[in-house]
Order: sequence, then structure tokens, then C-alpha cells
Amino acid sequence: MHQFLPYAWFNGECIPFAEAKISIATHALHYGTAAFGGMRAIPNPSDKSEFLLFRTDKHIKRLTQSAKFLLTELKEDYVLNALEQIIKINKPDKPIYIRPFVYTSDLGIAPRLHNIETNFFIYCIELGDYLSPDGVTCRMSSWTRQEDRSLPLRGKISGAYITSSLAKTEASLSGFDEALLLNSRGKVSEASGMNLFIVRDGDLITPGVDQDILEGITRASVIELARSMGLKVIERPVDKTELFIADEVFLTGTAAKITPIKQIESTKLVGERKIMKKLKSKLIEITEGRSKDYDSWITRIKLN
Ligand SMILES: Cc1ncc(COP(=O)(O)O)c(C=O)c1O
Repeated sequence: MHQFLPYAWFNGECIPFAEAKISIATHALHYGTAAFGGMRAIPNPSDKSEFLLFRTDKHIKRLTQSAKFLLTELKEDYVLNALEQIIKINKPDKPIYIRPFVYTSDLGIAPRLHNIETNFFIYCIELGDYLSPDGVTCRMSSWTRQEDRSLPLRGKISGAYITSSLAKTEASLSGFDEALLLNSRGKVSEASGMNLFIVRDGDLITPGVDQDILEGITRASVIELARSMGLKVIERPVDKTELFIADEVFLTGTAAKITPIKQIESTKLVGERKIMKKLKSKLIEITEGRSKDYDSWITRIKLN
């Protein structure tokens, strides 16, 4: 059962989640003309009266950029205020996932983005581990990651998630936890909702932003942390066969955090995963508000 938090942000105010309803004729429902964000927030482990949000500014910026692709303007301070209000009114006591959503709310039929009414809402859901922290099995998807010339992949555009859904279900129904997608040039792009990293000979390698990836906020954070630890980080095209011989392969994402891949197709990936473990423990320290150096990555919201 989904544990929705009692209040949602809808039409510019906090109202009971159950009352936040839209029409079956809503344009975005038919055409995927919407964009969303996904943020995690947790109670401060050392002060339960405080809630901690990770990289709020980056998430809000990506959301407002996504809105631009839909030709709608979403103001950053409006989103920040709505986020603060929704957390304060819900007073969560468990880790949550926050879903801000901007969409064409018009009831008209024609697929378009001009001359159309748009709206914005936020709801929250309790969320523990999305993927097993011990590791996941992956298959190479038969679906290809879309190209940036087909749709704006730098935004989290709802319609794009048909490919993620097809890939995730294909993986799941064939006995795997996750799907890895190649792009139209045959290079590794990402998983259904996570970015991918490999480690080879001590270097951290990840497909660049020109590889039809979503520009993940966890990805950017991991790159920054790795560089600060003195690791060499290389953003470049990654071939499928590199996945099978890498010393470590792992996924990053808001929902997945940092999750190791323990098997791809029939190949088991074993090893110490030293680099992943170092990055993961630093990321946890930061998200729990225990890192002075990275306190600027955390937004603290007082619940009382
Ligand atoms: C397709 C896709 N790739 C990658 C990611 C990881 O991005 P982030 O770290 O910003 O959550 C996500 C999740 O938002 C995603 O939906």
C-alpha cells in the first residue's frame, strides 16, 4: 500500500491529499505533456524536529527547466515555498519521496504546448529502499533510450517514461531487477530511472551528458565527491562490454541512492566495491546532515 502523506499542494495551497483531484479529460494525462521532480527528504537523525532535503536548489532548477520545455513558467521561489509548506503541514516522521508535478491542465483535445492552461502540484509518499542496497541484477534492455533530438531528455518529461516503463517491466518479467539501456549510437546510457557508473583501474567512469542521459543530481553529486576524494572521474561513452569487465558497476539516483549491480545478464559482478562504498558512506553522511563541508547541499526545515 502506498503511504501518501495527508496533505498535497494543489491550486496554490495545501489541501487534503484525497481532495486533490483532476478531470479525466486533463490534457497531460493523454499526451504525457507534464514534467516532474523527485526528491528525497528525511528526518534529521539527531533532531527529529527538523527535516532534511537534499540539493533542493538543484532539484528546483531542473524542474523549472523542465517546465520551460513545456513552455510554462514555474518560479523557483514559488516551488521552494510550496515545498516548505507541504513538509511543515505534513510533519513527516519517516523518510519521504516528494513528487512535484507541472502539467498541461487544460481539457482541450489537441496535442500542443501553446495557448494552454497549466498547473502544478506536489504530493509526498513514504519511501524506504527503492532498490535493494545489497545489489541488483540487470538485463540489457531490448528498448533503446530516446534521443535528445526526439524529446528534451534533460527534463524529467512524463511522456519519456514510457521507455523506462517498458524497460523496467521487460527486465522484471524476465527475472531481473533493473534494465540497462543503450542509446541510439549503441553506447550505454542509463537504467530505467538511474544513472550508471563503472570503475576501471581505480578511475570512475560514467556516460557523459551527451549520451542521452538524464542529468542526474545524484550523478553530479557523486562526480563532485569523487573528485574531492582525489579520484579521477572520466565522462565518456561507455561500451556494453566494459560493464562485464569493470571492477565495480553501480547506479545512482534519488530513489535508488547508490546501488551496486551484482549481475548483468548471466555475468556475476563480484568484488569489494571499495570506491562505491566510500562514495556511498560520504553521501549518507551528507544526506543525514552530518557533513559540515557539504552542509550547503542540505535544506533544513523546522517542523514546529
Ligand atoms: C531516467 C532517469 N535517469 C536518472 C535519474 C537519476 O537522477 P537523480 O539523481 O537526479 O534522481 C532519474 C531519476 O530522477 C531518472 O528518472
